[in-house]
Amino acid sequence: MISKYVLAAATFAALAFSAPVYAQHSMTPEQKAAAAAAKAEADAAVPVEASEPVNSADIDTSERTIWDGVFTATQAEAGSTLYTKNCAGCHGKTGRGSPGGPGITGANLNKKWEDISLFDFYTFAHTQMPPGKAGTIGNEQDYVNIVAYVLQLHGAEPGTSELVYNEDQLSNIYIVRKPK
Ligand code: HEC
Repeated sequence: MISKYVLAAATFAALAFSAPVYAQHSMTPEQKAAAAAAKAEADAAVPVEASEPVNSADIDTSERTIWDGVFTATQAEAGSTLYTKNCAGCHGKTGRGSPGGPGITGANLNKKWEDISLFDFYTFAHTQMPPGKAGTIGNEQDYVNIVAYVLQLHGAEPGTSELVYNEDQLSNIYIVRKPK
Protein backbone atom coordinates (compact mmCIF):
# COMPACT_ATOMS: atom_id res chain seq x y z
CA MET A 1 0.00 0.00 0.00
CA ILE A 2 2.60 2.48 1.06
CA SER A 3 4.93 1.67 -1.79
CA LYS A 4 2.18 2.55 -4.25
CA TYR A 5 1.99 6.00 -2.72
CA VAL A 6 5.71 6.44 -2.62
CA LEU A 7 5.74 5.50 -6.29
CA ALA A 8 2.89 7.90 -7.05
CA ALA A 9 4.72 10.66 -5.22
CA ALA A 10 7.92 9.90 -7.14
CA THR A 11 6.07 9.97 -10.45
CA PHE A 12 4.47 13.22 -9.47
CA ALA A 13 7.84 14.73 -8.59
CA ALA A 14 9.37 13.42 -11.82
CA LEU A 15 6.56 14.93 -13.88
CA ALA A 16 6.80 18.24 -12.11
CA PHE A 17 10.56 18.28 -12.61
CA SER A 18 10.65 17.25 -16.23
CA ALA A 19 7.97 19.68 -17.36
CA PRO A 20 10.37 22.62 -17.95
CA VAL A 21 12.70 20.31 -19.90
CA TYR A 22 9.80 19.32 -22.16
CA ALA A 23 9.30 22.95 -23.05
CA GLN A 24 12.55 23.24 -25.02
CA HIS A 25 12.59 24.53 -28.62
CA SER A 26 13.55 21.24 -30.21
CA MET A 27 10.10 19.80 -29.55
CA THR A 28 7.51 19.23 -32.22
CA PRO A 29 4.07 20.80 -31.71
CA GLU A 30 2.74 17.33 -30.82
CA GLN A 31 5.43 16.87 -28.21
CA LYS A 32 4.72 20.32 -26.83
CA ALA A 33 1.03 19.53 -26.61
CA ALA A 34 1.79 16.22 -24.89
CA ALA A 35 4.14 17.95 -22.48
CA ALA A 36 1.54 20.61 -21.72
CA ALA A 37 -1.04 17.90 -21.12
CA ALA A 38 1.35 16.00 -18.85
CA LYS A 39 2.09 19.16 -16.91
CA ALA A 40 -1.60 20.02 -16.59
CA GLU A 41 -2.25 16.50 -15.29
CA ALA A 42 0.58 16.80 -12.80
CA ASP A 43 -0.70 20.19 -11.67
CA ALA A 44 -4.23 18.86 -11.34
CA ALA A 45 -3.25 15.77 -9.38
CA VAL A 46 -3.56 16.50 -5.71
CA PRO A 47 -1.20 14.12 -3.96
CA VAL A 48 -2.81 12.53 -0.95
CA GLU A 49 -0.53 11.95 1.96
CA ALA A 50 -0.55 8.27 2.81
CA SER A 51 -1.43 7.26 6.33
CA GLU A 52 0.81 4.75 8.05
CA PRO A 53 -0.63 1.32 8.59
CA VAL A 54 -1.32 1.02 12.28
CA ASN A 55 0.61 -1.83 13.85
CA SER A 56 0.28 -2.23 17.52
CA ALA A 57 -0.24 -4.99 20.03
CA ASP A 58 -3.27 -3.04 21.24
CA ILE A 59 -5.19 -3.56 18.04
CA ASP A 60 -8.08 -6.00 18.24
CA THR A 61 -7.52 -8.50 15.45
CA SER A 62 -9.93 -11.12 16.73
CA GLU A 63 -12.56 -12.51 14.38
CA ARG A 64 -15.61 -10.29 14.60
CA THR A 65 -18.55 -9.13 12.52
CA ILE A 66 -19.72 -5.63 11.64
CA TRP A 67 -22.34 -5.96 14.42
CA ASP A 68 -19.75 -6.14 17.20
CA GLY A 69 -19.24 -2.39 17.66
CA VAL A 70 -16.12 -2.31 15.49
CA PHE A 71 -15.89 1.46 14.98
CA THR A 72 -16.31 4.56 17.11
CA ALA A 73 -19.03 7.20 16.78
CA THR A 74 -16.32 9.85 16.39
CA GLN A 75 -14.75 8.24 13.36
CA ALA A 76 -18.14 7.57 11.77
CA GLU A 77 -18.80 11.26 12.10
CA ALA A 78 -15.50 12.06 10.40
CA GLY A 79 -16.43 9.59 7.69
CA SER A 80 -19.86 11.13 7.30
CA THR A 81 -18.42 14.44 6.12
CA LEU A 82 -16.30 12.70 3.48
CA TYR A 83 -19.12 10.39 2.45
CA THR A 84 -21.63 13.19 2.02
CA LYS A 85 -19.22 15.19 -0.07
CA ASN A 86 -17.76 12.41 -2.22
CA CYS A 87 -20.07 9.40 -2.29
CA ALA A 88 -23.66 10.38 -1.49
CA GLY A 89 -24.22 11.94 -4.91
CA CYS A 90 -24.17 8.46 -6.48
CA HIS A 91 -24.87 6.09 -3.61
CA GLY A 92 -27.50 8.17 -1.87
CA LYS A 93 -27.52 9.93 1.48
CA THR A 94 -28.29 6.69 3.31
CA GLY A 95 -26.29 4.49 0.95
CA ARG A 96 -29.40 2.88 -0.51
CA GLY A 97 -28.30 3.83 -4.03
CA SER A 98 -29.43 6.21 -6.76
CA PRO A 99 -29.52 6.17 -10.55
CA GLY A 100 -25.80 7.02 -10.35
CA GLY A 101 -24.67 4.09 -8.24
CA PRO A 102 -25.81 0.90 -6.53
CA GLY A 103 -26.83 0.60 -2.92
CA ILE A 104 -23.89 0.00 -0.58
CA THR A 105 -25.97 -0.43 2.58
CA GLY A 106 -29.11 -2.40 3.37
CA ALA A 107 -30.20 -5.24 1.12
CA ASN A 108 -27.47 -4.66 -1.46
CA LEU A 109 -24.68 -4.81 1.10
CA ASN A 110 -26.18 -8.01 2.52
CA LYS A 111 -26.48 -9.61 -0.86
CA LYS A 112 -23.26 -8.62 -2.58
CA TRP A 113 -20.82 -8.53 0.30
CA GLU A 114 -22.06 -11.27 2.60
CA ASP A 115 -19.19 -13.11 4.34
CA ILE A 116 -16.63 -10.79 2.79
CA SER A 117 -14.15 -9.01 5.01
CA LEU A 118 -14.02 -5.30 5.67
CA PHE A 119 -10.53 -5.33 4.23
CA ASP A 120 -11.94 -6.30 0.83
CA PHE A 121 -14.74 -3.76 1.12
CA TYR A 122 -12.31 -1.01 2.16
CA THR A 123 -9.89 -1.98 -0.63
CA PHE A 124 -12.64 -1.78 -3.25
CA ALA A 125 -13.65 1.67 -2.04
CA HIS A 126 -10.08 2.93 -1.84
CA THR A 127 -8.92 1.57 -5.19
CA GLN A 128 -12.11 2.15 -7.23
CA MET A 129 -14.04 5.02 -5.69
CA PRO A 130 -15.00 7.65 -6.62
CA PRO A 131 -14.88 6.40 -10.22
CA GLY A 132 -12.14 8.12 -12.20
CA LYS A 133 -10.50 9.67 -9.13
CA ALA A 134 -10.14 6.71 -6.81
CA GLY A 135 -8.03 7.27 -3.75
CA THR A 136 -7.85 11.03 -4.23
CA ILE A 137 -10.34 12.11 -1.60
CA GLY A 138 -8.34 11.10 1.43
CA ASN A 139 -5.73 8.77 2.84
CA GLU A 140 -6.21 5.16 3.92
CA GLN A 141 -7.58 6.03 7.34
CA ASP A 142 -10.01 8.51 5.78
CA TYR A 143 -11.40 5.68 3.65
CA VAL A 144 -11.59 3.46 6.74
CA ASN A 145 -13.62 6.23 8.40
CA ILE A 146 -15.94 6.30 5.39
CA VAL A 147 -16.39 2.55 5.77
CA ALA A 148 -17.27 3.13 9.44
CA TYR A 149 -19.93 5.61 8.39
CA VAL A 150 -21.31 3.26 5.73
CA LEU A 151 -21.63 0.57 8.42
CA GLN A 152 -23.46 3.05 10.63
CA LEU A 153 -25.84 3.87 7.77
CA HIS A 154 -26.35 0.13 7.38
CA GLY A 155 -27.54 0.01 11.00
CA ALA A 156 -24.43 -1.11 12.87
CA GLU A 157 -23.89 0.51 16.26
CA PRO A 158 -20.57 2.15 17.09
CA GLY A 159 -18.51 0.74 19.95
CA THR A 160 -15.52 1.81 21.97
CA SER A 161 -12.65 0.56 19.81
CA GLU A 162 -11.58 2.28 16.65
CA LEU A 163 -11.60 0.73 13.21
CA VAL A 164 -8.08 1.27 11.95
CA TYR A 165 -6.15 0.96 8.74
CA ASN A 166 -4.62 -2.38 9.69
CA GLU A 167 -4.88 -5.37 7.40
CA ASP A 168 -5.02 -7.95 10.21
CA GLN A 169 -7.86 -6.14 11.90
CA LEU A 170 -9.88 -5.39 8.77
CA SER A 171 -9.41 -8.91 7.36
CA ASN A 172 -10.95 -10.44 10.47
CA ILE A 173 -14.15 -8.39 10.49
CA TYR A 174 -16.85 -9.91 8.32
CA ILE A 175 -19.90 -8.44 6.68
CA VAL A 176 -22.79 -10.66 7.72
CA ARG A 177 -26.52 -10.20 8.03
CA LYS A 178 -27.73 -8.67 11.27
CA PRO A 179 -28.18 -11.43 13.85
CA LYS A 180 -31.87 -11.85 14.70
C1 HEC B 1 -19.92 9.12 -9.88
C2 HEC B 1 -20.69 8.18 -9.11
C3 HEC B 1 -20.03 7.52 -7.94
C4 HEC B 1 -19.39 8.10 -6.86
C5 HEC B 1 -19.17 9.58 -6.60
C6 HEC B 1 -19.01 7.02 -5.99
N1 HEC B 1 -19.39 5.83 -6.51
FE1 HEC B 1 -19.17 3.99 -5.65
N2 HEC B 1 -19.96 3.11 -7.30
C7 HEC B 1 -20.45 3.78 -8.40
C8 HEC B 1 -20.87 2.80 -9.38
C9 HEC B 1 -21.47 3.11 -10.74
C10 HEC B 1 -20.61 1.54 -8.83
C11 HEC B 1 -20.85 0.17 -9.47
C12 HEC B 1 -19.77 -0.15 -10.43
C13 HEC B 1 -18.71 -0.96 -9.85
O1 HEC B 1 -18.99 -1.85 -9.05
O2 HEC B 1 -17.54 -0.71 -10.21
C14 HEC B 1 -20.04 1.77 -7.51
C15 HEC B 1 -19.71 0.76 -6.63
C16 HEC B 1 -19.32 0.97 -5.32
C17 HEC B 1 -19.16 -0.06 -4.33
C18 HEC B 1 -19.41 -1.53 -4.59
C19 HEC B 1 -20.90 -1.74 -4.60
C20 HEC B 1 -21.31 -3.08 -5.08
O3 HEC B 1 -22.42 -3.18 -5.60
O4 HEC B 1 -20.58 -4.05 -4.95
C21 HEC B 1 -18.76 0.53 -3.17
C22 HEC B 1 -18.46 -0.14 -1.85
C23 HEC B 1 -18.66 1.95 -3.45
N3 HEC B 1 -19.03 2.19 -4.75
C24 HEC B 1 -18.26 2.90 -2.52
C25 HEC B 1 -18.12 4.24 -2.83
C26 HEC B 1 -17.57 5.21 -1.90
C27 HEC B 1 -17.11 4.89 -0.50
C28 HEC B 1 -17.57 6.40 -2.53
C29 HEC B 1 -17.04 7.72 -2.04
C30 HEC B 1 -15.65 7.71 -1.67
C31 HEC B 1 -18.14 6.19 -3.87
N4 HEC B 1 -18.43 4.87 -4.00
C32 HEC B 1 -18.33 7.20 -4.79
C33 HEC B 1 -20.56 5.14 -8.56
C34 HEC B 1 -20.02 6.07 -7.70
